[in-house]
Amino acid sequence: MRILHPLNQDWWFAPVALPLDASDDDFTPVTLPHSNKLFTRLSVDNADYQFVSTYRRCFMLPEVTAGQQVFVDFDGALLVSTVYVNGVLVGEHKGGYTPFSFEITRHVRVGENMLTVYVDATESPDVPPFGGQVDYLTFGGLYREVTLRMVDPCHIVSVFPRPQNVLTAPGLECDMRLAEWSDGLRVEAALTDAQGQVIAVHQTTVSSAAFTLTFPALDGIALWTLEQPTLYTLTVTLYASAKAVDQLATRFGFRSAEFSPDGQFYLNGQPLKLFGLNRHQTYPYIGAAAPARLQALDADILKFELGCNIVRTSHYPQSPHFLNRCDEIGLLVFEELAGWQHIGDATWQQLALCDLHAMIERDRHHPAIILWGVRINESPDNDAFYQATNALARSLDPTRPTGGVRTFLDSHFLEDVFTLNDFPPGVQQPRVRPHLVTEFVGHMFPTKTWDHEERRVEHALQHARKHNLQRGHPDIAGAIGWCAFDYHTHKEFGSGDRICYHGVMDMYRLPKLAAYFYRSQKDPAAEIVLHAATNWTMGDRNGGGNNPLTIFSNCDEIEVWIGDEAQGRLRPDVEHYPHLTHPPFTLRWPEPYNPWGTRFRDLTVRGYLNGAVVAEQKIDAGHVPVALRLWTHNECLRADGADMARIAVQVVDKYGNVLPYQTRLVTFTVTGEADLIGANPLVLLGGQGACFVKARRTSGQVIIRATADDLPESQITLNISD
Ligand code: GAL
Repeated sequence: MRILHPLNQDWWFAPVALPLDASDDDFTPVTLPHSNKLFTRLSVDNADYQFVSTYRRCFMLPEVTAGQQVFVDFDGALLVSTVYVNGVLVGEHKGGYTPFSFEITRHVRVGENMLTVYVDATESPDVPPFGGQVDYLTFGGLYREVTLRMVDPCHIVSVFPRPQNVLTAPGLECDMRLAEWSDGLRVEAALTDAQGQVIAVHQTTVSSAAFTLTFPALDGIALWTLEQPTLYTLTVTLYASAKAVDQLATRFGFRSAEFSPDGQFYLNGQPLKLFGLNRHQTYPYIGAAAPARLQALDADILKFELGCNIVRTSHYPQSPHFLNRCDEIGLLVFEELAGWQHIGDATWQQLALCDLHAMIERDRHHPAIILWGVRINESPDNDAFYQATNALARSLDPTRPTGGVRTFLDSHFLEDVFTLNDFPPGVQQPRVRPHLVTEFVGHMFPTKTWDHEERRVEHALQHARKHNLQRGHPDIAGAIGWCAFDYHTHKEFGSGDRICYHGVMDMYRLPKLAAYFYRSQKDPAAEIVLHAATNWTMGDRNGGGNNPLTIFSNCDEIEVWIGDEAQGRLRPDVEHYPHLTHPPFTLRWPEPYNPWGTRFRDLTVRGYLNGAVVAEQKIDAGHVPVALRLWTHNECLRADGADMARIAVQVVDKYGNVLPYQTRLVTFTVTGEADLIGANPLVLLGGQGACFVKARRTSGQVIIRATADDLPESQITLNISD
């Protein structure tokens, strides 16, 4: 039977290529996921991570059952990996975003073995996404997990559950591939629901290494929906004669997802306008090496905080932990292969095809994924290459459409969905259907959390305008904005500090005003949102004052007060945003408007739903900072040496509003078995910032304290357990 040993702890690392027989003294201990470098400052030079590292891991091989094969499986390493076992080269892998494995049976022995991995993070022009200029940093290292796998020679290679007729008479087919075939093989497939109850079992003899299991009709299947993302597990056991030789469990869901020729997207037969953001997988300080908890947090932020129903994994296959969470919470995914504008030579294209193959084989069981991106983002047409990528995707997964992101409308349409980055104002008239907008705003309007208010409001409204137009356009299936989070980039892009300030949130995943536009589109049953898009000042805008005042809310009416003077009740601004579910509110004071120097008082905004007050926001006209708000989504961590919590810190007024120009220096102290990752002291930008706290391998309580000047100290407690 299959035996899996996670190999994430007890690695030894050196930021240099050391000989295989280098002394232990040349290494430092690390845990995976690992970045080849930690970055202490926000401005990162790509030269900083472009070097070869040596990772070394000693592992014990138990008594291997006679004839078992041993594999080492890498979930992903950036960018080129060369792997040795006991001093013998076992393989090389080029590419940073898909998994790879090497069979090491003949190189291992019972007892102690040594795995050495050289990870070269150099931006090699021979390996996607490189060869041209790339607007993001890739970072480097063994940044995803590694597993030692022992299997019988006859083992399961892949399981692809394909739900059938989910809206009428749900059934299940499952494509299976075995490493080898021999007479007398049999499989038993058990379908279990989320509670672990077996709801169907199917058995069959196996007549070849690749075959399809067909379950009889299934009863009582619950659909995977955005509101109730029900998941099932298919556990396939392989028997040789009467002996179980392998078992593999695959989680999936029953749902139908269709980009229809009528231009709309349908989930389970119901039209759904796609509303989302692009996500890069990089973070401050840790590069791309975020553990499972932070990956899941990004999905949660996109779904629950920003109210998105779709995310695009721009511009590469992302962490399985991220995708698993998208399955669990009901967040649709457009996943694409690695690349950015540049198509390399035949060898490069072959690597891209291998990546695409690995991505689809890895991910086709995820119900969240509804579209494969089979073009290099924004590359020119290349019919031969893109006919090959489309054919490959369709052969590996006949259940999902292909898309491929381009910038020009007359590009050859070889995919199933025309996916367009649509940056000009307005929306471009689709040439074909289905048509999905995959990027907008981004570099057209970079915006920092500490920019002046007019810019931050305009940034939010540019997102609102595009979504308004796309929602009103019957031939557009939806739109995915650029982008969720600010990100590190090369010097050819960005704001001079190697950062693209294109996020609706900053790099720490803390909101800009644009985040509140997204959030305000949520159903009030999920969360009532009321956020005045202002610092409420007299002198931050050109000419002074606050005219007009924009409020993002999903209430049906609002009331605005300045001090004790009512400014009136307002309805959503349907005149300018007729197609949004929840148009912003726009308060315009009549001209001539010149409040400069007049008495200035607190702002109060009340939100009503069906005539009842359901929300209130107040902003202090004095802008007096009263507290350091220290908070986290993750108060419980695992004592595995890799788990991390994001600890956010914001300077707030007496009503809890973030004060964006409070450029404080915050000092953290951590007491207990955890390490702080990040700048300390930390300069707050836009009145906010964050650090990461990483668990060690000892359980216990960890206290994090934050201080800044005269503000009272804040603290939070994390619980770290096995
Ligand atoms: C697009 C590109 C993205 C990002 C964006 C900035 O052209 O696909 O990766 O660079 O522009 O707006």
